Amino acid sequence: MQPEQEKRYWQNWDNGEASRKIDAYWIQSENPWRETLVRQLKRNFKPGDGIFEVGCGSGLIFHKMREHGLVDAKSYQGGDISQEMLKLARGRTPDVNFRTTDIFNIDMLDASQANVINIHVLQHLPGYEQPVKELMRIARDKLYIACWFHPGMEDQVHFSDPSENWDKQAFHNNTYSMPRFLAFLFANAPRPIVDLRMHHFGDTNYGITVLFREEEESARPVGRSQESAIQILSASPTFASVPAPLRENLAALHSILSRMA
Ligand SMILES: C[S@@+](CC[C@H](N)C(=O)[O-])C[C@H]1O[C@@H](n2cnc3c(N)ncnc32)[C@H](O)[C@@H]1O
Repeated sequence: MQPEQEKRYWQNWDNGEASRKIDAYWIQSENPWRETLVRQLKRNFKPGDGIFEVGCGSGLIFHKMREHGLVDAKSYQGGDISQEMLKLARGRTPDVNFRTTDIFNIDMLDASQANVINIHVLQHLPGYEQPVKELMRIARDKLYIACWFHPGMEDQVHFSDPSENWDKQAFHNNTYSMPRFLAFLFANAPRPIVDLRMHHFGDTNYGITVLFREEEESARPVGRSQESAIQILSASPTFASVPAPLRENLAALHSILSRMA
């Protein structure tokens, strides 16, 4: 184990039978969620667009996307730090490129991936800053992030007790402040964000699509600077669908942005 990884007290996916047990749980209990997620992804990506998934786990999202005709073995690649998760993914689909990838330091060139997705990974890390910078660095056109958020202004960081369910391993289960997260995206994007869509799956579960390039059919005027974050958000057709407390707190985005700038 590298010294860098020794410090990662939270990275317990490869310990004992944790990955196998978690994968078994996902298969048994989370198929409806994957179905809902992929229906949402189909609104944002077209078949054949090409998708790189960071934190692909055991490959179940790939399977669901392929079932829906969104990707195939050629147009998709998945990356994960957990060798046990990668083994499960490769075992299911040997013809797909499932590769070792560290979200803190992704071994890919800037803007080298047209579309990047990241599903329920960030809440299991101690924080999202460096990982999100990395995702935005490599994504050229669109970045889709699903994570746990709440409308308030403080991140809720929890490191759970070791769970019997996951072979006595502990994980982060954080719920991040959505206004702060959005402010972070706008303040740290390496290229202008031209649109941002939000989808509320329910409870703390949200999907966010960040567009770095306008879709061809859209004639909407686009913002070009951090200061236009509020305009971009409120002009987005999806903005009305997010819970009211979140819409209200987004007004705080301006002050956060100016502090971060
Ligand atoms: C809750 S799982 C989600 C897996 C998959 N996206 C899904 O929804 O089925 C979180 C995944 O993030 C991966 N992960 C944790 N730390 C990572 C890191 N530093 N780099 C890449 N992946 C990481 C874990 O190994 C695990 O597979």
